[in-house]
Amino acid sequence: MELIPLNTECSQLLAPIHGFLHCATPDEWLAEARKPEHLAALLVDHANCEMKAAMSAHSLVRRYCLPKDKRKLLPNLDFYKSLDALPEKGEVLGKQALIGDNKRVFDELAKNDLLVKMVRLIQEELHHFEQVLEIMAARGIPYATLSASRYASGLLAHVRTHEPAAIVDRLIVGAYIEARSCERFARLAPFLDEELARFYVSLLRSEARHYQDYLTLAREHAGQSIDDRVVFFGEKEAELIALPDPQFRFHSGVPAAA
Ligand SMILES: [Fe+2]
Ligand SMILES: [Fe+2]
Repeated sequence: MELIPLNTECSQLLAPIHGFLHCATPDEWLAEARKPEHLAALLVDHANCEMKAAMSAHSLVRRYCLPKDKRKLLPNLDFYKSLDALPEKGEVLGKQALIGDNKRVFDELAKNDLLVKMVRLIQEELHHFEQVLEIMAARGIPYATLSASRYASGLLAHVRTHEPAAIVDRLIVGAYIEARSCERFARLAPFLDEELARFYVSLLRSEARHYQDYLTLAREHAGQSIDDRVVFFGEKEAELIALPDPQFRFHSGVPAAA
């Protein structure tokens, strides 16, 4: 039953993502994800993934965009809600939160591609997080504690420790997580109820841009070809997706019992 057919725009967004990922989401995972008894876990894990996406971008901004003595300017994610990186928000960048010397630091950073892209990404991920919570609340699904899947930690375990290799690897990992999320939203949407299907399709555009942004930033920071590293992480990512996984989560592998 295909409630929301993916249109031409979605197909265009997904084409590079399918080329980037080394494997498609296995049918066994899809069959599991469609089961109504997994809906609560799927939504709670999805909410967690949105928050973690914002948090890891926040950590990149603090670590790589700000001098050490200015990192305290960004203590938590609430800061981004007052910034104007999204057209629908009325404030000027930093107007509310930053004055004097701190404002000048940020004015300089407004030309920093990593900062600009990450600020927009963080705001969008926080918005997605709130959207998932709203959907859960409307359905009476509690935001219960749920352990993380092996997926992100399995990728981050391969991040090198010296610079600029560390940031390049983190950015490539970000690209894979965004790309897989996008691919899974599209695969799942036709099998969900209309509200969820529309929501998941609505996420495709921003998540596809996040994947592109991470890849662009990885290339900018590397100063040399990243092709080998992209292939390396592509293979690791595909293993996490294709190997048996005892846990069901948004980014889990093939259900172990399948
Ligand atoms: Fe998101
Ligand atoms: Fe994203």
